[in-house]
Amino acid sequence: VGARRDDTDRLASRWSAELLSWAIPEDILAAAAESPWTHPVAVFARSASTDLEASPDTPSYRRALEALLADGSAPAAGRARSVLDVGAGAGAASLPLAPPATRVVAVDEDERMLRAFEALAASRGIETETVLGRWPECADRIGEADVVVCHHVLYNIADLVPFVTALDAHARLRVVVEMTETHPLSYLNDLWRVIHGVERPTGPTASDAAALIESLGIDVRVEAFTRPSRWAEEDRPTRVALARQRLCARPEHDEVIASMLSEEDRGLVALWWDRPEG
Ligand SMILES: C[S@@+](CC[C@H](N)C(=O)[O-])C[C@H]1O[C@@H](n2cnc3c(N)ncnc32)[C@H](O)[C@@H]1O
Repeated sequence: VGARRDDTDRLASRWSAELLSWAIPEDILAAAAESPWTHPVAVFARSASTDLEASPDTPSYRRALEALLADGSAPAAGRARSVLDVGAGAGAASLPLAPPATRVVAVDEDERMLRAFEALAASRGIETETVLGRWPECADRIGEADVVVCHHVLYNIADLVPFVTALDAHARLRVVVEMTETHPLSYLNDLWRVIHGVERPTGPTASDAAALIESLGIDVRVEAFTRPSRWAEEDRPTRVALARQRLCARPEHDEVIASMLSEEDRGLVALWWDRPEG
């Protein structure tokens, strides 16, 4: 256990140091027209809505569904099943699970995202509860759920151990995390070099997150897959404008941004584990 704790400490420090290295140089940030750290609510609402129309054919969706359906302890019809979605955004990870989920609890620190989540859930008559707060600080206010999902949040979390431990503690059956294989802003690294002459980091990666979770004694499974980027649904000028904002660039850079912006599929990873008592 002592060796494992050393391992966890080492992996956790490396995770947070590598994440912090994504900070944007002060002078570039000071000259930026708008904050580069943006989560456009409309884009998340659109991709959640697409996944509600047709359930996503992904390991993350299938693994969560499988756990919700597998609990044989009660008759299938009318059985209550709950999902907790941490960093829910507009609900892309959780709303497609209802049904069979009968209740979805969404946690997010961004109130605009929770409003988008509520609007989408209401349009489908899904029973929900929303909690405005930062995980894991708000975790004590929230009960257990059958399945806990957390998609595209881990690269925001410098202190990963308490975050993951609280996900684990809130799941009755299974936890399903989805993340990109590499940092979600890596697709702009070449443009940072061209526009600002700045070399961006390459880590941490989903494998680092998996190793850290495993060091906690969790039997984590890893399934890699690809999916078109959710930005692919947006038109080209919107994608260029978003990239410009994230790059702290100016309109005169639009041409180079448009010429280098890649349309490739994203490498994604589902990390999931069952709760021992589940
Ligand atoms: C990239 S979005 C992903 C949204 C959604 N899970 C999806 O896959 O479409 C990340 C979301 O996590 C939220 N978030 C980030 N860190 C958080 C934290 N520690 N606690 C609660 N919400 C957080 C952000 O506000 C944002 O809505």
